[in-house]
Amino acid sequence: APGKVSKICCIGAGYVGGPTCAVIALKCPHITVTIVDVNQSRIDAWNDKDFKLPIYEPGLEDVVRGCRGRNLFFSTDVDKGIQEADLIFVSVNTPTKKSGVGAGFAADLNYVELATRRIAAVANSSKIVVEKSTVPCRTAESMRTILESNSKPNCRFDILSNPEFLAEGTAIGDLFKPDRVLIGSLQTPEGKAACDALTEVYANWVSKDRILTVGLWSSELSKLAANAMLAQRISSVNALSAICEATGANIDEVAHAVGFDSRVGPKFLKASVGFGGSCFQKDILNLVYLSESLHLPEVAAYWRQVVEMNEYQKRRFSKTVVDTLFNTITGKHIAVLGFAFKADTGDTRESASITLIRDFLNERANIKIYDPQVPHEQIWFDLAEACPNLPLESIKKSVTICPSALDACNQADALVIATEWKEFKEIDWEAVYTNMNKPAFVFDGRLILDVEKLKKIGFKVTVIGRGNVM
Ligand code: UDX
Ligand code: UDX
Ligand code: ADP
Repeated sequence: APGKVSKICCIGAGYVGGPTCAVIALKCPHITVTIVDVNQSRIDAWNDKDFKLPIYEPGLEDVVRGCRGRNLFFSTDVDKGIQEADLIFVSVNTPTKKSGVGAGFAADLNYVELATRRIAAVANSSKIVVEKSTVPCRTAESMRTILESNSKPNCRFDILSNPEFLAEGTAIGDLFKPDRVLIGSLQTPEGKAACDALTEVYANWVSKDRILTVGLWSSELSKLAANAMLAQRISSVNALSAICEATGANIDEVAHAVGFDSRVGPKFLKASVGFGGSCFQKDILNLVYLSESLHLPEVAAYWRQVVEMNEYQKRRFSKTVVDTLFNTITGKHIAVLGFAFKADTGDTRESASITLIRDFLNERANIKIYDPQVPHEQIWFDLAEACPNLPLESIKKSVTICPSALDACNQADALVIATEWKEFKEIDWEAVYTNMNKPAFVFDGRLILDVEKLKKIGFKVTVIGRGNVM
């Protein structure tokens, strides 16, 4: 097995593989990093001469400018990438299965398996294969079986699990200064040697006491557990927000007071219209599926409730909008500010905004959307997928995508903050008020607005987790 890594290949140039391996290339000028993908247009975008990269992530462009063409390369030649590398990250997508066994819960491991089989088929020297996609426990074992059953003489494969903990929107900062790097390996001499080789890569910029080395299974389970526990905090705070609304307490005050307990900690306690993103729901559903497969129904039910609370929060919010607008929004204009699942990303996967707009469409409202980053085609794609009962032409009759927040609010009956984009705090509220129908309703699903100021202007304001602020 290779002792020192000098060539890395990453299979999958997506939200995880792209930024992660670009940062490795920047921090390790002595290592050649090639990121490969079967998607030609994605690779073309990574190679774009004006650096119009396929994903929006603050700071990413600088990283890519710093090393592309030096020791960072993007290519669709997957086989060559595999053959030349000593270490291969597998960073392909693992969406929730849409059909078959475990549909709606289990991860679709087809892409991981195809990538693994490709490695087995074309490799002609020993490789360290690193599982980087979020996958349910024991995937590494399946990868190992596939590789071992297909390996050639003098070709050894060592499997590592190295889950990625970056959050979108802060990916580059998270990668530069990770809370921890987790590496799982078999506890054999070969497994430990492979683990040491990957540790040396990270040690180029991460201090060794933050590099945790554990068993393969622990590593895989830790990733699911970390996301499940983070999501659980949000569902807990959102459950409390319902109590606050019913009683007149203020969820920000409650969360602040609770978070001051050092055992709880202040982060990740922001009530919201519901969490989104490609990871939380998917990973929890994986955990639920895993628990059920292991005949642990109580454990499955416990984690399932975190997702159910999130669905409840979204439903509850749309219902508040309808109730507040005198029990009907049919034919009314609703401005939805924000379509991404969080600020500072153009990613819309599982965004709460999609669910809200679907609910509003089912009430036959007219909707105007503004988001500073999400491409228009993505919005149409997501809405068509969310409303299979509505033909796209009829969605397009009821929905307008606007070039600014001010445009979206023009003639609106209500305004909904769905994503916490910073620019929504700096809107010219006087102008918005003048152009809205009266009474002018504002619904803050992200707790970012200055409620007192808005009330003074004349808005009727509803905030998640606060009773009677109107
Ligand atoms: C998450 C994990 O944070 C990251 O470690 C993991 O690698 C991938 O999944 P990500 O989904 O990119 O990252 O974003 P995150 O910042 O965790 O936000 C997830 C969702 O929770 C967003 O919709 C966000 O708006 C929401 N959220 C977050 C809240 O509603 N309240 C909070 O306090 C924090
Ligand atoms: C708790 C709260 O900590 C305290 O702030 C509040 O004022 C009263 O309730 P207490 O019940 O005295 O205090 O003890 P605590 O240390 O919180 O432990 C409660 C139980 O949880 C114990 O049975 C403890 O063994 C258990 N526990 C605690 C765990 O099982 N695991 C842990 O990680 C921590
Ligand atoms: P993530 O958020 O996990 O990074 P993405 O969907 O953004 O997921 O990225 C995964 C990428 O992996 C996609 O660009 C997809 O084309 C690529 N991919 C999937 N399977 C393979 C494969 N067998 N070989 C090469 N690339 C693949």
